Amino acid sequence: MHKTLTDGARQQLPPDRINCFRVAPSRPVPNLLQDARSGLLERPRSMPPKYFYDDRGARLFDAICDTREYYPTRTEDALLQQHAREIIDLARPDHILEFGSGTSRKTRHLLDACAGLNRPVTYWPFDVCEPVLGEISHALMQDYDWLNVRPLLGDYHAGLDALPVPEGSCLYLFLGGTIGNFDSPDAHRFLKETCNRMRAGDHLVMGADRVKAHAVLHAAYNDSDGITAEFNLNLLKVLNRGLDADFDPGRFSHSAVYNAAREQIEMYLVARERHQVRIGALGSVIRFLDGESMLTEISRKFSLESLQAMLTAAGYTLDRHYQPDNGYYSLVLTRPASVRSEV
Ligand code: AVJ
Repeated sequence: MHKTLTDGARQQLPPDRINCFRVAPSRPVPNLLQDARSGLLERPRSMPPKYFYDDRGARLFDAICDTREYYPTRTEDALLQQHAREIIDLARPDHILEFGSGTSRKTRHLLDACAGLNRPVTYWPFDVCEPVLGEISHALMQDYDWLNVRPLLGDYHAGLDALPVPEGSCLYLFLGGTIGNFDSPDAHRFLKETCNRMRAGDHLVMGADRVKAHAVLHAAYNDSDGITAEFNLNLLKVLNRGLDADFDPGRFSHSAVYNAAREQIEMYLVARERHQVRIGALGSVIRFLDGESMLTEISRKFSLESLQAMLTAAGYTLDRHYQPDNGYYSLVLTRPASVRSEV
């Protein structure tokens, strides 16, 4: 079932002529070692979800998006396709800056709609993965001859102070429902930080997954082909490599449960038996009890009310809200409720 993952050699492209701008962190972000120290040495154990996405993890996530059960990606894609025209007509962007751009697949709907603006647009994909940034920059400039692409390499968790502020109107994108991976204070900080950068005429388009029947949510994180399980367990390989550790994926199982009180999916790796793991980089051995779990991801689900409240609290006003008939997912077009005067 993972054939597409193992033989997925990426298309070779001509030597890189587009330089990535390196976005300096404006506050320190913990590295893997520090996250492991604070997340693994004490109970309850946890690791931040950003470590899922090594090369194999990114491919597994793509495979999750193709499963029958995982609706968010295709739902957001359809909403973008359907409403790209209106979004672009309202935002009339000179620039599009995307947080966590990945392969920019869904962004193409917005770029397609930009062709109708009959003026140059600059796309600023912002991501941690340099090879992918290089590839997509080439591909997009080939496909859209009116488009400039200025890739930004960095981690948006580390603050936005060092991001270039382009002249003209800017449409910010935060897609995929990734806002759900932030706990409430972190989501607030990120949205507020983005809002503080924005000027009159700027907009933010964001996707967010919604509260719905528990069985639907449960299935989306427990697909029958076991790809989500594989994605979750892959974290252990990332940790083994990065921390000189000896996690045995065979001794853990995948668990994803919907916590209705907190309105979030919680993903865990659960020890199948009592055993110990050596973590070379920390010079320690940690002990797992039989059934002990390690939290690897939260994925928050929003009601219309909680989504609206989060946006309002961070300083936004809602221009448009798009959703499918079943209300499974929200795509919002927002802008700062009040814009500070130019300095
Ligand atoms: C990419 C973070 C939105 O939370 O649904 C998918 C990641 N984890 N299946 C999500 C994920 C397990 C996904 N996000």
